[in-house]
Amino acid sequence: MTDLGSAVLMKAWLSTKVVGSHAGLLPDGGGTLASGEWPPSRPVMGYNTWYQFRTSITESEVVRQAQLLVSSGLASAGYNCVNLDDGWMAAERAANGELTWDAAKFPQGIPWLADQIHALGLRFGIYTAIGTRTCQSLPGSWGHYAQDAETFASWGVDFVKVDDCGGLPAETTLETLTENFRQFGAYLRQYNPEVVYSQELPIQQIGKPSFLPAVRASAEFAHMWRVAHDEYPLTQANASPMILGHLAADLDLHSFAGPGHWNDLDMVAPGFPASGWTLADLHSQLSVWAMEASPLLISADIGALPPAALAALKNPHMIAIDQSGEQCSNVIMDAHIEALIKPDPKGGIAVLFVNLGPGTGTGSFSLSQFGITSARASAYNVWTGSTTTFNEVSVTLRVGQTMLVQIQEA
Ligand code: GLA
Repeated sequence: MTDLGSAVLMKAWLSTKVVGSHAGLLPDGGGTLASGEWPPSRPVMGYNTWYQFRTSITESEVVRQAQLLVSSGLASAGYNCVNLDDGWMAAERAANGELTWDAAKFPQGIPWLADQIHALGLRFGIYTAIGTRTCQSLPGSWGHYAQDAETFASWGVDFVKVDDCGGLPAETTLETLTENFRQFGAYLRQYNPEVVYSQELPIQQIGKPSFLPAVRASAEFAHMWRVAHDEYPLTQANASPMILGHLAADLDLHSFAGPGHWNDLDMVAPGFPASGWTLADLHSQLSVWAMEASPLLISADIGALPPAALAALKNPHMIAIDQSGEQCSNVIMDAHIEALIKPDPKGGIAVLFVNLGPGTGTGSFSLSQFGITSARASAYNVWTGSTTTFNEVSVTLRVGQTMLVQIQEA
């Protein structure tokens, strides 16, 4: 039996070869800009301002992050959408009722910003709320759904995130709220048939019987919908519990996900590295998000990402698993070690091992439990680049630790 989690055992037992994780699969920096289909049938990839800037966002910073997305090679790797989150609006609507920008933060205006982003070969996204106010008490879209949809389309907006915040009439029920989100989406598509509609209808329903109906409805009319809370507090101590908590929240929702509609676990690399997260935390988050086919929206200063974090975000194996077209729907377990399994687009299966126990633990599995009929199989570790062959699987992980591998019959 080979312990996939122990390099020592692996070496003693079988030959191990190291494969460069980026070997010739994608251009590394510069090169052709991400073009890709729009709206994408696969989970959206890109950048979001929220965890980096909160409301202290300016047009020059957004342009800078967009340029960094290109120069870092992230755009070539698929991160092609730049999203402005909360904090861009003026404190009040314009005299004609239109939503407008904070001129101190965006002196040249949102249409100008959209042009800058488009000129870089990228898509441009914006944020609003379903109620009268956003989560930061700025003007929301209540009473203006059609008008705002038209405004966004006229500005060249490709992606709209609608939050579940702000004052709503006291008689609001889940049914009327769902109808509001559905209606807003219809207006957004009416004025821009190619828009990506991202929303947060389910988030206030987490833990209530209304959660599943909110997810079910969202899957009918949105491209992506949040199924887990914000990632606060952003500390190293919270990273693993948050990542695994988000996984648990999403695991049973796979039937709602598929091409053109995805469960959204929230942004990746939130505030990294200032948040104190380790590289292992980032690997773990990306592994979970990829198995769950969640959108990958980076919310960190791209210019401050250490090379290893940049490489992790660009890892073509992780990206291929995320973009495979399905969320994981098969889970097996042994001794607190959970194994999540889904088909791997390059053949074989992608497997994420997770230790859910209170201490270091070992899980043992036969190949047949993974649907493998050959006597031996090989596993490629997405983060270390090492390949191991084995005839039974034994995985040892620390508390909260994860391991993402691609397994093929040998
Ligand atoms: C909510 C959302 C976040 C972010 C903030 C902005 O908390 O869940 O993703 O958009 O609002 O205020």
